[in-house]
Amino acid sequence: MKGIILAGGAGSRLYPLTQVASKQLQPVYDKPMVYYPLTVLIASGIREFCLISTPHDLPRFRQLLGDGSAWGLHIEYREQPRPEGIAQAFLIAADFIGQDPVTLILGDNIFFGGDAFPRAFAEFQSGATIFAYHVTDPERYGVVEFDAEGKAVSLEEKPAQPRSNYAVPGVYLYDNEVVAIARAMKPSPRGELEITDVNKEYLRRGTLRVQRLSRGTAWLDAGTSSSLHEASAYVQTIEKRQGMKLGCPEEAALYRGFLTLEKFESLVSGLPKCEYRDYLADVATEVRRVGIKSA
Ligand code: TTP
Repeated sequence: MKGIILAGGAGSRLYPLTQVASKQLQPVYDKPMVYYPLTVLIASGIREFCLISTPHDLPRFRQLLGDGSAWGLHIEYREQPRPEGIAQAFLIAADFIGQDPVTLILGDNIFFGGDAFPRAFAEFQSGATIFAYHVTDPERYGVVEFDAEGKAVSLEEKPAQPRSNYAVPGVYLYDNEVVAIARAMKPSPRGELEITDVNKEYLRRGTLRVQRLSRGTAWLDAGTSSSLHEASAYVQTIEKRQGMKLGCPEEAALYRGFLTLEKFESLVSGLPKCEYRDYLADVATEVRRVGIKSA
């Protein structure tokens, strides 16, 4: 399965932070925001990526992540000139997707906890798999309604009167049909190719799987100054308590076998002296001592 990281958009709610650097490059505690969704996909076994951003911001992402080879990955880049919808990503990246299934993650979605994603990726065969997460403010998101048997029966984008408290987070898994579905779509009244319309089409075909994320999973939004601050505080709290970092792509690549320990160690030795380097060096020492335990 291939992976798309969508990291465009205006980021207007974070102005003036986003005047120079895009939302997904802002720090979430000790690393750029995009590290977190990237790590989620690496930990789920994705190795080939296409990062989509604005023509203005794309060079900064290239500078940050390169071609991915240092981390045992392959990363390509594509421009989205205007924010014309999340589903436009499948048109922009159609040549990258080729004949493969694809996952899309939003570059500002931060997850922590549980093994729902690696499991869903391992089990994925066809159709679409999306997730549902209980929130207090579902009207800000795509909302999924379940029947008494727990089967998804409706999907609505930012409804004024939500039919449930279950919002759809920004991670979606699709078979290759998604490209044809996106090609056949028309922009919504707000001028966007809506990801909710893609999901509705899979629902109509009877091939949509909606997996509820348990309460042990954290899904954080970092789209406003205060939610960005809260996300940073959350990451700091967990990292300080556990002595383990969240959203560390190098570590996930090592655990997933994309990097050998030797390559990981040489990568660490090339980093500037900093807390991040000390952490990765400790990871290497631990893996040398006891092997890879878990991600
Ligand atoms: P939003 O949070 O809806 O939009 P935004 O990031 O532009 O922020 P603001 O409302 O403050 O202007 O977008 C959700 C995510 O999807 C975000 O990571 C940006 C990304 N996105 C794109 O990359 N391209 C698009 O066309 C759209 C609609 C969103």
